[in-house]
Amino acid sequence: AGTGKFFVGGNWKCNGTKDSITKLVSDLNSSKLEPDVDVVVAPPFVYLDLVKNSLTDRIELSSQNSWVGKGGAFTGEISVEQLKDIGAKWVILGHSERRHIIGEENEFIGKKAAYALSEGLGVIACIGELLEEREAGKTFDPLSFADAVPSWDNIVIAYEPVWAIGTGKVATPQQAQEVHVAVRDWLKNNVSAEVASKTRIIYGGSVNGGNSTELAKQEDIDGFLVGGASLKGPEFATIVNSVT
Ligand code: G3P
Repeated sequence: AGTGKFFVGGNWKCNGTKDSITKLVSDLNSSKLEPDVDVVVAPPFVYLDLVKNSLTDRIELSSQNSWVGKGGAFTGEISVEQLKDIGAKWVILGHSERRHIIGEENEFIGKKAAYALSEGLGVIACIGELLEEREAGKTFDPLSFADAVPSWDNIVIAYEPVWAIGTGKVATPQQAQEVHVAVRDWLKNNVSAEVASKTRIIYGGSVNGGNSTELAKQEDIDGFLVGGASLKGPEFATIVNSVT
């Protein structure tokens, strides 16, 4: 940790029921969270309102996706305006599951990011390589949507190596640190030194209560995006509190 306020997001993905989410919210409401950490959870769309109405304001709300422009005749989509209307502050964009399972590409993700940012929603922008890309020596997609970004004030970059997501195979602190430095260098060379020095770069991929402290010690790991372990309130709190 070294850049800005530590940031921990819980990406609940397509998990949960009214019952399990009510229990998770109550566990989060009663957990002690370090004050100097930004904490965000991203429930499935259908439960956003339930979570907004029951979760402590200490924790901000994110959606897991948003539509690329203004709402209207786009069956099955949710607009940025609707997300703001129910109190969301963030949106996760470019998650590997949306890239590799749904087929979203950089250009589309860039347009979504630009639109969400222009409407005042914060963006958690995900990048990360496949195992074969890592083996071929390519560790991160350059942020090719960077040109579409109007302002970097409200962006957090999540580095999630695809081989570490949901596999229990966490990147070593050194592996993650190395890529975070490369992302920061990329920002410096392609955006500006100022953006490189203030943008938080968080790590995602099999983070849990047992490995988060070591990861958080790395200079360029400014937080986490947590999947599976964010479904357990006490463990998520441990991860939030792992920055010292
Ligand atoms: O967005 C978080 C994520 O993809 C990591 O998932 O289950 O490996 O923590 P998990």
